[in-house]
Amino acid sequence: MHGLIAPHGGELVDRVLEGEERDAAEEQAADLPQVALNARAISDLELIATGAFSPLEGFMNRETYLRVVKDMRLSDGLPWSLPITLAVDAAEAERLKPGHDVALLNPHGDLLAVLHLEEAYPYDKQEEARLVYRTEEDTHPGVLYLYQRGDVLLAGPVSLVRRSILKGFEPYSVEPRALRRQFADRGWRTIVAFQTRNPIHRAHEYIQKCALELMDGLLVHPLVGRTKLDDVPNWVRLECYRVLLENYYPKERALLTAFPGAMRYAGPREAIFHALVRKNYGCTHFIVGRDHAGVGSYYGTYDAQHIFGEFDRDDLGITPLFFEHTFYCEACGAMASPKTCPHDESSRIALSGTRVREILADGSLLPEEVTRPEVARVLREWAQEQKNQVS
Ligand code: ADX
Repeated sequence: MHGLIAPHGGELVDRVLEGEERDAAEEQAADLPQVALNARAISDLELIATGAFSPLEGFMNRETYLRVVKDMRLSDGLPWSLPITLAVDAAEAERLKPGHDVALLNPHGDLLAVLHLEEAYPYDKQEEARLVYRTEEDTHPGVLYLYQRGDVLLAGPVSLVRRSILKGFEPYSVEPRALRRQFADRGWRTIVAFQTRNPIHRAHEYIQKCALELMDGLLVHPLVGRTKLDDVPNWVRLECYRVLLENYYPKERALLTAFPGAMRYAGPREAIFHALVRKNYGCTHFIVGRDHAGVGSYYGTYDAQHIFGEFDRDDLGITPLFFEHTFYCEACGAMASPKTCPHDESSRIALSGTRVREILADGSLLPEEVTRPEVARVLREWAQEQKNQVS
């Protein structure tokens, strides 16, 4: 689309079947061997098919997988930092023949897509853990998921027959092609994307608005796919964003849509991945703050920023915007960061996750310096509902 950033690799992938092609695929699929997908594989499948993972047209083959794990590149040298693979058990793989199609189903047995199987290959989970997640410990949620997956990876292009839009998220489910159209209609040229998996707090709002001061538009793009169980549920987080945008953001400059991807918690590597995917949605800039996509203490506070230095900016295409750890400073009477605030720790309001949980469990509202009252009310309501369910 005229004036918008080119997708990664130049073309927005479209592997969605429509009309007669779709009907034919559905008919043929009845005779194919079947593989049932879990929620994360379904999300990857759909993101491939709708172009969010361009230039990928399917699940990675061995050559690409190894190049990505070891060098963060696709076979043609284009940057790509996370493996996108489909794992099955060895016994399940035995039933399948490369060169033949496989029907991909959801857990209810509905046909989602056809995988044009080209290769089935074993892989080294420890190596993937070490290189992608920088740890082999299974206390890391991404590594644990990897260790629990099947031992064989299935590779090949996919043809999507049926979308599986997350229930309740329909108004926020906007695919890359449609989002690009919206950007073009709004006349936005420079667009900054914000990834999040947490309820919005003032630091998020601050860095988004600092970035927006320099851009035509802001895309708030919370991840609503699989996260670890102790993260706040996706619908609560989305509701937090909804009330925040309604009350504090200019409608003609900020857009809220959902990113149906799953969280990997791969820190630095995931920051690159998050940026490339947002480029496919049409964004020119991407916010990377403190410990982006991190978990526990596996990554240094700014590792996810440093990794951008390993790539040529033109190869990435999208421009990262780095922000330091942001907080509310009582002496400044404003949000600030070490870059803009001369006061020491004693002026800064910082609540630990444990303290936040205590406040919510108590039925209290989080302080205004930490989150907006409208957001605090959504979180309190959710915490109370949870409490009622348990008792
Ligand atoms: S993430 O896993 O999606 O990165 P989160 O929702 O916590 O988690 O963060 C979203 C974005 O905001 C990330 O780029 C993160 O680095 C940034 N961020 C979160 N909190 C702060 C903060 N206090 N200061 C600066 N950046 C922050």
